[in-house]
Amino acid sequence: MSSTSFPNGFLWGAASASAQIEGAWNEDGRTPSIWDVATKKQVRHGETCHTACDHYHCFREDVALMKEIGLKSYRFSISWSRVMPEEGKVNEKGLQFYSDLVDALLKNGMEPMVTVFHWDMPMWVYKKGGWLSERIVPLFRDYTKVLVDALSDRVKWWMTVNEPGCFIMNGYLQGVHAPFKRNYLALSKLTRNCMLAHAEAVKTIRQYAKQKPMVGAAFSTGAYVPKTDSVEDIEAARKKSVEIGNGLMANRWWMDPMILGKPVKAYGIFSSKEKDMAEICQPLDFMGLNIYSSMNYGDWGDVEQAPAGIPRNSLGWVIDERVMYWNVRFIYERYGLPIMITENGLAAHDTMSTDGKVHDPKRTDFLCRYLKELKRAIDDGIPVLGYQHWSVMDNFEWAEGYDPRFGLIYVDYATQKRIIKDSAWEYKKIIETNGARL
Ligand code: GAL
Repeated sequence: MSSTSFPNGFLWGAASASAQIEGAWNEDGRTPSIWDVATKKQVRHGETCHTACDHYHCFREDVALMKEIGLKSYRFSISWSRVMPEEGKVNEKGLQFYSDLVDALLKNGMEPMVTVFHWDMPMWVYKKGGWLSERIVPLFRDYTKVLVDALSDRVKWWMTVNEPGCFIMNGYLQGVHAPFKRNYLALSKLTRNCMLAHAEAVKTIRQYAKQKPMVGAAFSTGAYVPKTDSVEDIEAARKKSVEIGNGLMANRWWMDPMILGKPVKAYGIFSSKEKDMAEICQPLDFMGLNIYSSMNYGDWGDVEQAPAGIPRNSLGWVIDERVMYWNVRFIYERYGLPIMITENGLAAHDTMSTDGKVHDPKRTDFLCRYLKELKRAIDDGIPVLGYQHWSVMDNFEWAEGYDPRFGLIYVDYATQKRIIKDSAWEYKKIIETNGARL
């Protein structure tokens, strides 16, 4: 046990995203998103997210389980097509679902944290050009306003977009995520539209929120772990993490314009231009960081160059907890904003044992290792506001389908039965001791 605990009020939580857990894809007035129409060939075993964890119907039970684990916060996203099934139309039933969820969370002592956009773009927005068209900017502003009007009396924490780097790269460049496009030439345009939409959302939240909001965005980030603790190695790792090469694309490409108001040019193209800076760079209260793997073995740590036998998760991503410390440190040194860990977790092939429980020692170990490294960053004086474990429950892992299980809660998809995993019971104890148990 370490003697010191985490800061008072530290938000110990867990995260999810609408498309990955809600299901009820065509109920109560919801229209399809780009993920609902993914074809059988585009998702590993041809699965769909149409039912997922059926959280839309089971949310009260799920909130009760979160309370049982002792979570202090819950990060979730809104399905745009559930609350706005077509342009200009607000679906009261869809809004009611989120309003009820927020009430249930607050009643059970959890802080709701809303992600406005976590990848499930409505088909109707996509048909108007999606991120390729500047029309997305006012559409995104109007959508955000609907959410702020309906929820901001109770919701304080807002994230505009989740991992812009990922949904643009995977969805529009590499064609591995919806809408499965390969359009490298559009990178500048996609980036700009996305940043402008984010900026409009930030302004909208600030203008209409019914209480002082905490506004940020959740970035997919990455960092290199220095080879040794020598000053030279640390400096080399810092440079590669936040200045050049993969680090530039993973971090600076988005963060420099959005947070520092600095245009970035790489490989002959711009992520942003000077003339847009005043608009794009809106003051944020925190940065959300989604941290999984180090970049030492390739940009996302899931590559072959890693030594044989190195620890990996079930998706092949290298497990190296030191990245939690170095990523937080390098990002904080460059951007200076308080940090919220908005995602971090482990994919595994969890199963229910004959005793009816789900024993997931790898996840428990992962959780403790990464949290200890986060504590090191806090001990250095870096303001870290909370930690949202990915994920609250097993879910639809996008193009990888349901095989990779990231949850603290196990989901039996055939019956929708939930089981709190061993790692979650350990997390409960960590939370109860405010981290002193680690
Ligand atoms: C993130 C994403 C989540 C989840 C997680 C695990 O990139 O925001 O939705 O899928 O990765 O792969």
